Amino acid sequence: MGHLCLLVVMLAFLNGYCCLGCWEQERIALLQIKGDINFPNGASLQRWVDNETANCCDWEEIECSVDTGRVIQISLNATREYLRSGDWYFNASLFLPFKELKTLHLPENSLVGWVENEGFERLSMLMNLQVVDLTLNHFNINILSRLSGLPSLKYLSLFGNNLKGSTHFNSSERLSRLNNLEVLDLGWNHLNGSVLSFLNLNDLISLKELDLTLNNLQSFEPIQGLETLASRLSNLEILHLSHNWFDNSTLSFGGGLSSLKSLDLSYNKLKGTVDMRELDALTNLEVLDLSFNEIDSLVTPKDTKILKKLKVLYLDGIEKISRNLVQSLGAFSSLKTLYLKSNAFEGTITAEDLGSLPNLEALFLDGSSLNNNFLQSIGVLASLKNLSMVDCELNHTLPTLDWDNLLNLETLILDASSLNNNFLQSVGVLTSLKILSMANCEFNGSLPTQGKIPLELGNLSDIHALNLSHNNLTGTIPVTLSKLKQVESLDLSYNNLNGRIPTQLIELNALAVFSVAHNNLSGALPERKSQFGTFEETSYEGNPLLCGPPLNKSCTKNGATSPMRNVSNGEVEEDGFVDMDAFYITFVVSYISVLLGIAIVLYINPYFRQGWFYFIEVYITSR
Ligand SMILES: *[C@@H]1O[C@H](CO)[C@@H](O)[C@H](O)[C@H]1NC(C)=O
Ligand SMILES: *[C@@H]1O[C@H](CO)[C@@H](O)[C@H](O)[C@H]1NC(C)=O
Ligand SMILES: *[C@@H]1O[C@H](CO)[C@@H](O)[C@H](O)[C@H]1NC(C)=O
Ligand SMILES: *[C@@H]1O[C@H](CO)[C@@H](O)[C@H](O)[C@H]1NC(C)=O
Ligand SMILES: *[C@@H]1O[C@H](CO)[C@@H](O)[C@H](O)[C@H]1NC(C)=O
Ligand SMILES: *[C@@H]1O[C@H](CO)[C@@H](O)[C@H](O)[C@H]1NC(C)=O
Ligand SMILES: *[C@@H]1O[C@H](CO)[C@@H](O)[C@H](O)[C@H]1NC(C)=O
Ligand SMILES: *[C@@H]1O[C@H](CO)[C@@H](O)[C@H](O)[C@H]1NC(C)=O
Ligand SMILES: *[C@@H]1O[C@H](CO)[C@@H](O)[C@H](O)[C@H]1NC(C)=O
Ligand SMILES: *[C@@H]1O[C@H](CO)[C@@H](O)[C@H](O)[C@H]1NC(C)=O
Ligand SMILES: *[C@@H]1O[C@H](CO)[C@@H](O)[C@H](O)[C@H]1NC(C)=O
Ligand SMILES: *[C@@H]1O[C@H](CO)[C@@H](O)[C@H](O)[C@H]1NC(C)=O
Repeated sequence: MGHLCLLVVMLAFLNGYCCLGCWEQERIALLQIKGDINFPNGASLQRWVDNETANCCDWEEIECSVDTGRVIQISLNATREYLRSGDWYFNASLFLPFKELKTLHLPENSLVGWVENEGFERLSMLMNLQVVDLTLNHFNINILSRLSGLPSLKYLSLFGNNLKGSTHFNSSERLSRLNNLEVLDLGWNHLNGSVLSFLNLNDLISLKELDLTLNNLQSFEPIQGLETLASRLSNLEILHLSHNWFDNSTLSFGGGLSSLKSLDLSYNKLKGTVDMRELDALTNLEVLDLSFNEIDSLVTPKDTKILKKLKVLYLDGIEKISRNLVQSLGAFSSLKTLYLKSNAFEGTITAEDLGSLPNLEALFLDGSSLNNNFLQSIGVLASLKNLSMVDCELNHTLPTLDWDNLLNLETLILDASSLNNNFLQSVGVLTSLKILSMANCEFNGSLPTQGKIPLELGNLSDIHALNLSHNNLTGTIPVTLSKLKQVESLDLSYNNLNGRIPTQLIELNALAVFSVAHNNLSGALPERKSQFGTFEETSYEGNPLLCGPPLNKSCTKNGATSPMRNVSNGEVEEDGFVDMDAFYITFVVSYISVLLGIAIVLYINPYFRQGWFYFIEVYITSR
């Protein structure tokens, strides 16, 4: 009985002392840190005030363990005001009370060094410490030995410090005894090949990712008796070397880096013909980034093993993509994702040139200027699921593209590209399309009830997301949109649509995202039921004449309503085209010339109704 009482008393004590709030010694230690940071007006960390009843786990930049109530994360990002407080010297004693600390973020704090005998080496007493982020401070090379020997450290960032290359190599300045370190970021430190002397690679046995972005590295050649970088990093999986000075276009890593999966060599000085034959040693490489180099062509003999394994290749910003370069891509027979953003395609590229990429699933051409030949040749990529052509210059006199083979295409993003009616017609054959985004495409014109010259756009029965925002669409919202039963996201915002929002849209049971904001719509909103019960004011804002909940404006009296145009109930026969029995949607979109408009009509063909096939038709009308 006595024991039980004691236990109850102890539990009550523990509760009161630690686990309901934060631990008393941790609260005090946090206040000491705040004092050490020493900002004159206390501009930040406002909740860190001396109050015995305060729960420091609720303070900003602190995270506590739910189980023990102890502090596990401290994030003092850019907390110290340099102009007022000057350089800061790290004091390890301030952090030792946090026995369960896992993550310590100290970026941008003007840290230049440490108080004598209070360096980072003392943090080795914190057995849970996994993340130390010292990004954008002013530490020099001497920090490395201090950071050695932290037993549980997994992630260390010294990005944007002042490590620099050092000619006199002093082994006691090495980063060592970090057996659990997995990620090391040494980016933007003016490092040259001497970086090797900083790392005791034998001790960094768990290192998987090394970031050397924004340094002065120039080659993988051995430097002054030191091993090559590559030969010592046999467990490394990810290597970032972008924004350096690599200029030897024969890519070679001296037989090392055999575990490497991802290599980033973007923004270097590779020029002309890049020879990839020696990359064969990288037997596990899956991702290669050669973007923003001045590459004319690649030497990619078909018998090289590595090229057959690569899954993702980045060639953004090469500027001029020649037929030669496109042909050399044929060697990457396993390629699934290809980035060719911000390029200009030159010469006559044929379907055969691209034909040896049978597994390609995603192609990114954003910001590129695409010629007709290249656009035609895309049609050969039968496995393609994603095609992104944001902000592309397309030829206005583009013929209809032969894209019948793209039977797997699910996502087509065309935002901010200039499109003509032929192009829309080419999109029409893409029956598997789920996401179609044509925001900001400079469509002018209306979505009226009917047009004159039907042009097939497509079977968009599977469409899940349709984005026509930021165009100049006018007219009313077609009732028939309510037949897009699969649609989850419908964005018609930033157009000039008028009239009422058809109440039939309530039938769209899958609709999760809906916006008609910034149009000229008027009248009562659809009833707040089913999915329409979930849409808030933001879906409707920027339409002064709309009324009813969730808007503040009620619909009583003159009812701000304008008579809704009756948008057909089928039975329209179009120039001997298909009988649009069930419904159709018309989008008339006027095109460059003021005289022309394109209208898109979407309807169900009765013959295909079981399969919910829809057609969109493009109409050209003269105004
Ligand atoms: C201390 O904190 C408690 C609870 O948060 C609060 O009610 C009280 O006013 C605070 N005292 C002072 C002096 O700030
Ligand atoms: C700042 O702290 C947050 C945690 O709140 C962290 O996720 C983030 O990466 C830090 N920012 C920088 C620039 O280090
Ligand atoms: C370092 O922090 C400890 C613990 O708060 C403190 O006692 C000591 O005075 C600090 N040292 C310096 C030089 O500020
Ligand atoms: C590397 O950098 C150091 C210091 O910045 C410099 O003294 C040395 O000459 C550089 N070495 C090479 C090979 O550029
Ligand atoms: C090497 O570094 C240690 C510790 O920083 C220092 O005591 C020693 O004098 C240095 N040796 C040379 C040759 O610079
Ligand atoms: C470029 O690298 C290759 C392969 O490592 C080497 O044989 C050649 O000498 C290097 N060229 C220059 C100019 O350093
Ligand atoms: C644009 O297309 C027309 C007709 O196909 C063609 O004559 C012209 O060369 C193309 N221009 C470009 C830049 O591809
Ligand atoms: C392809 O598109 C889908 C849907 O937008 C997206 O979730 C996926 O990440 C894309 N795949 C690639 C490789 O970008
Ligand atoms: C719609 O799909 C059907 C069946 O797949 C096909 O016969 C028809 O040609 C397609 N229509 C368009 C416009 O692609
Ligand atoms: C539609 O596209 C615009 C422009 O790219 C974008 O801002 C908006 O978020 C998109 N809408 C949805 C629902 O994704
Ligand atoms: C069409 O949109 C552009 C930019 O989005 C705008 O500058 C222009 O005034 C619009 N034209 C019409 C007729 O609304
Ligand atoms: C749409 O109208 C704007 C302004 O009148 C014009 O600059 C733009 O070229 C037109 N776009 C198309 C595709 O017709």
